[in-house]
Parts: sequence; structure tokens; C-alpha cells
Amino acid sequence: MRIGTVETRNRVFAAPMAGVTDKAFRILLHRMGCGLIVTEMASAKALTYSNRETFEILNLEEEKGPIAVQLFGSEPGIMAQGAKIAVGTGAAVVDINMGCPTPKIVKNGEGSALMRDVPLAAEIVKAVVEAVEVPVTVKMRKGWDEDTVNAVELALAVEEAGAAAVAVHGRTRDQFYSGSADWGIIEQVKKAVKIPVVGNGDIRSPEDARRMLDTTGCDAVMIARASMGNPWIFSRTIAYIEEGRVLPDPGWQEKLETAIEHLHLLVRFKGEKRGLLEMRKHLAWYTKGLRGAARLRDRINKIDNLEDLMQLLENLREEY
Ligand SMILES: Cc1cc2nc3c(=O)[nH]c(=O)nc-3n(C[C@H](O)[C@H](O)[C@H](O)COP(=O)(O)O)c2cc1C
Repeated sequence: MRIGTVETRNRVFAAPMAGVTDKAFRILLHRMGCGLIVTEMASAKALTYSNRETFEILNLEEEKGPIAVQLFGSEPGIMAQGAKIAVGTGAAVVDINMGCPTPKIVKNGEGSALMRDVPLAAEIVKAVVEAVEVPVTVKMRKGWDEDTVNAVELALAVEEAGAAAVAVHGRTRDQFYSGSADWGIIEQVKKAVKIPVVGNGDIRSPEDARRMLDTTGCDAVMIARASMGNPWIFSRTIAYIEEGRVLPDPGWQEKLETAIEHLHLLVRFKGEKRGLLEMRKHLAWYTKGLRGAARLRDRINKIDNLEDLMQLLENLREEY
């Protein structure tokens, strides 16, 4: 499908997840065939200050696209500057975060707070569209709370301001991640705008993705939490919705092989200490459902060097 001038590989997109969809994970996601991959959110303001950690998010070297860089911020001029920097590092798409519910972000008027200020949200999109040649997209929620559901209004405003697509997570800011996503709002947005609409929220299986496409009419789906420790959700969903093929879940051998590769990539990009630390949560996800998983996690969390962790994972792989 097309987002402005960008042709995505298919209709199954990897959602932005701070602390998860970093370079190491994105390399695995690309191999799973994701149509479009969105980076962790990056602060536009921090980019303009040349903040080293924020630039790390924008490191797209060696990655095969298309990759959308997600920016957050509340000042049109700074967002425009940040977008230029993101394009300079290889972003094929610039995505603007209007959905993050975290108090620390919202109190600065950023993330989902922009849903409460539609004119400013539109001004930001306009400034970014004028600043860069690549398509600009917006990721939003259903609304701020149940009394102020305004995804349709916001989607129309950002379309008018030049956005090339919108992604809609069917929860309000008030819900954070609780309750269930309202797919009805995705359908309403799809009916209202002409630009492509990406549906998001509670896709846990290829069948869920099919159902979201069918019931909402959205143009593509975006998966977040179900991909944690489970990047195969993408290859399986793509096979299912593009070719009608049902692929089995990978066995433990394959899961552990991928986990080992994930570990190598993390250590390569973030160094041994940080890589090991960050891998702990991924390993907890990869090994969910494995016999003795809780005890295994305890052992993993005590390991402080790559060699021992590799040994443990290799032994485990041989066991299966
Ligand atoms: C750990 C975590 C980090 C997230 N970080 C971001 C982010 O940086 N930007 C963003 O727009 N959404 C972020 N999200 C929201 C997801 O992209 C997605 O909208 C939400 O999880 C609903 O989709 P799901 O039901 O497939 O998980 C995050 C979600 C989680 C669980």
C-alpha cells in the first residue's frame, strides 16, 4: 500500500514501542517482513540539542526500510527542525506522536495532550509537512477520555494540514492500556478521511488482524504488544492476510535461536552491560510458556556477562 510517495511492503506494520522497537529488534522485524516499521518515539527538542541518546533512536544505518521515525513534541518550529534531522538520518516517513499517555509527556502538552488542542496539532503537522519531502503521518488515540472522543475531528484536521496517513489506537488517553480497544472508532475515522487509515489496538493473532481489516475497513494494521518476544506474529499475519496461509507458531528451537540473535544485536549496538540488562525483559517475553520459565528468569537476571548468558541459552536450545 502507499503512504504518500512511500510504497510499504504490505499492510502489516510494526508499532512504535519505547524501550522495545530499538535497532536490534527492528532488524529482526524487517526479516519478518513488516510492511513499515516505526521507531521508538524521539523528542524533537532533544534532537535540536544534539542529545546523544535521542540520536541513538535515529540511527537507521544498515537497516532496510521503510522506516518511519516517530517524533514527539508540542512546538511546530521545533518539530519541523526535528523532522529535518530525522530525514537526514534516513527516515522514509516522519510520524508524529499524538497518543502517548505518560504523565511526563502529557504535562508538557506532548503526545496525547495534542488531542485536546486540535488547532495546535494541525499547526504542527503543517509545519512538519512544509519542512520535509517525505510523507508525514500521525498516530493518535480515540480521544482524551470518553467525554471527549475526537479522533474523527483530529484525523480530518491533520488530513487538511497535509498528513499522508493516520494510525488510530482505539483507546482513550484515560484508559492508558486498560480495557479493550474500540475498533468502531477506527471505522469512523476510515469513513471520514481520504488518506489511508492504520488500525491499532489488541491484535493478538493473524485472525485478529484479518477481523480488524474486515470490520473497520482500515487500510493496514499495526501491532505492538503481541510482538514482544514474538516477532513471528508479523510473518504469520502477513502470510495469513496476504496469502490466506496459516503458519504454525515457531517451536522453542527457533524461538531460542532468535533470542540468541537478538542478544547479539543488542550487545553489538548498546555494549555488553546495557545489552544484557535490556535483554532481560525480552528473554522474559521469549520464554513465556516455557517449562520452569519463572525459575529460568531468576537465573537469567543474576547473570552479568555475555558468555554465561550465551551458555545458558545454548544449553536451553540443545534441551529442546
Ligand atoms: C512498552 C510500550 C511502549 C510504547 N511506546 C510507544 C511510542 O513510543 N509511541 C507510540 O506512538 N506508541 C507507543 N506505544 C503504544 C503502541 O504503539 C500501541 O499503540 C498500543 O500498545 C496498542 O497496540 P497493541 O494492542 O497492539 O499493543 C507503546 C506501547 C507499549 C506497550
